[in-house]
Amino acid sequence: MPVEAFNKFESRDQLAEALSDRIAELLDLDFASGAFASIALSGGSTPKGVLDRLGPKLGANMEMIYFALVDERNVSPEDDRSNEKMIRNHLGLQQHPASEFLSLYAENQDASGAAELAHGKLLADEELPFDVVTLGMGTDGHTASFFPGGDNLNAATDPDTEKLFLPMLAPGAKEPRITMALPPIASAKSLFLHIEGDEKLAIFEEALKDGPADDMPIRHVLRHPDVNLQVYWAG
Ligand code: 6PG
Repeated sequence: MPVEAFNKFESRDQLAEALSDRIAELLDLDFASGAFASIALSGGSTPKGVLDRLGPKLGANMEMIYFALVDERNVSPEDDRSNEKMIRNHLGLQQHPASEFLSLYAENQDASGAAELAHGKLLADEELPFDVVTLGMGTDGHTASFFPGGDNLNAATDPDTEKLFLPMLAPGAKEPRITMALPPIASAKSLFLHIEGDEKLAIFEEALKDGPADDMPIRHVLRHPDVNLQVYWAG
């Protein structure tokens, strides 16, 4: 069953409180055993309220977390379009400089070079599978940077690919992207989809129906046999 739980909230604040509680609880399981916990986060604008609440809940434990990005726009971490910048700011990571953060940006590299470097780093860090992965969804049915018409959509959504990150160019994306491939997303111990608003709910319901996966690439995640998605939605 692709959707393990569909959690509906009356307000976006309530959702943010509940999802940040849940993520903090899951990461805490690993701290309790003395291990490092790991999380890969999506960017965009929807996660900001969750991250604002999650930072204080994790507190100093952030230094025992391996943070990664599900996808990134190929811009420097100082750029306002950077997912890394957004996530660091909203979590308050600057107060915990010892935390590990897998950046997907590499100076003087194009998206392809940056994806290759991130692939090598994540392999070397031996952080797979992630304890938690969070996804968002665009109104075109993309998730991560699996965009309709993306030049690397087939490679990135191949359930057997050995690549952990791939570059992606797509008509619906402003700049070249770097995306996590499907296998490290599908293998997450806990996988969340956070969406808000009636329009995204209708698109998600459409994605659950039959139809070509490449038209609504979130279907590649929904149809992966190992995926048990926990959906968080508020209107
Ligand atoms: C990004 C993403 C992307 C995002 C959706 C939803 O870099 O944009 O990580 O996959 O989750 O585009 O974005 P919004 O939350 O801004 O609607």
